[in-house]
Amino acid sequence: MTLETQEQLEGLRRIGKIVANCLQTMARSMEPGMTTRELDDVGRDFLAAHGARSAPQLSYKFPGITCISVNHEIAHGIPSDKILAARDLVNIDVSAELDGLFADTGGSFMIPPESKVKRKLCAATREALDEAIKVARAGQPLRAIGAAIEATAKRRNLTIIRNLGSHGVGTALHEDPEFIASFHDPKDRRILREHMVITIEPFLSTGAQLAEDGNDGWTLLTHPQFHTAQYEHTMVITKGAPIVLTIPDTI
Ligand code: CO
Ligand code: CO
Repeated sequence: MTLETQEQLEGLRRIGKIVANCLQTMARSMEPGMTTRELDDVGRDFLAAHGARSAPQLSYKFPGITCISVNHEIAHGIPSDKILAARDLVNIDVSAELDGLFADTGGSFMIPPESKVKRKLCAATREALDEAIKVARAGQPLRAIGAAIEATAKRRNLTIIRNLGSHGVGTALHEDPEFIASFHDPKDRRILREHMVITIEPFLSTGAQLAEDGNDGWTLLTHPQFHTAQYEHTMVITKGAPIVLTIPDTI
């Protein structure tokens, strides 16, 4: 969406804060022995307590409240009886709606003991998100986002999951502009406009380049030998630094 009123900005700030705090609450409650459904229940209770509705459930009839993807599952994992274990790399993606407005956030979290490889992957993926946010300005081409992500991945010797992208958000979970690539695409002539609401969500990997369909109609996977991480924020584009809506409260 393109923001038109102060009221819409306030509404987006509200749902942005809810999904951000939900994500952190879930991440903090993660422990070995817990099922991903139990982790999803933490998210369900949090969203319900704040009057928000799961966006994937509302928009796509996703069989869960949040997407929880473990290890070589990299996105859209269905909460299940799968038991979390030490050393798992867990991606939690929380998107939700309140009063007709949507926000989307996500992050990858390590269950201790953390390995050096995964720690570096997570740090580099956060860096890619930060670098992309720095170039996301009104008047700039959308492909500047992908160029910034790609440059970070190259610098850190990591690959990009090329078929997953960032996207417009606001009045729906996914809306125009659709598929903002995480690599430099010279053919993309679109321009970032003031007050456009988008996500940025790089997926960086230790070797994978494509998310492949799992066998459940939802889960996206890579080959098990690779690790992949994702971090995602929802933001409003301005002439200066974007207004990032999915920063959690520090507790
Ligand atoms: Co998301
Ligand atoms: Co998203």
